[in-house]
Amino acid sequence: MRRVVFNQKGGVGKSSIACNLAAISAAQGYRTLLIDLDAQANSSHYLSGKLGDDIPLGIAEFFVQVLEGGASARKARPPISPTPFANLDLITASPALADLQPKLEPSTRSTSCANCSRRWPRTTSGSTWIPRQR
Ligand SMILES: Nc1ncnc2c1ncn2[C@@H]1O[C@H](COP(=O)(O)OP(=O)(O)OP(=O)(O)O)[C@@H](O)[C@H]1O
Ligand SMILES: [Mg+2]
Repeated sequence: MRRVVFNQKGGVGKSSIACNLAAISAAQGYRTLLIDLDAQANSSHYLSGKLGDDIPLGIAEFFVQVLEGGASARKARPPISPTPFANLDLITASPALADLQPKLEPSTRSTSCANCSRRWPRTTSGSTWIPRQR
């Protein structure tokens, strides 16, 4: 099952839908892994029942290992936590992700414009997309 849930508006149910889709998948007998990449860690809370510091560092721990590099980075694996639900596992997010985000973003990047074939550089100051100068 492949589903993408996105909406820029906050609090409209994105995390709830993702958790419910994961739960439906697990209930149908599929081994299911939900990966929470949101520093708010709401999906981690919804599926584990844990809050704040009780939520494992999860994916943030993995990113730290990768960013620090070294021999252990190649062997780094995101820690998978079980949930109370059969077939459903979780890689948790945590507030630590917010500090890691700037380190994980490349200093320059570009993406394809959704409605055309030209490529557009992204400004470093925010989410505004400006055409590349010729
Ligand atoms: N169908 C629904 N009916 C009523 N309340 C809902 C429904 N879906 C989600 N909620 C509630 O709305 C709140 C926000 O839901 P959720 O965390 O899924 O939103 P979100 O879009 O992921 O938010 P954010 O943008 O902050 O990540 C939660 O308290 C959740 O329990
Ligand atoms: Mg959310």
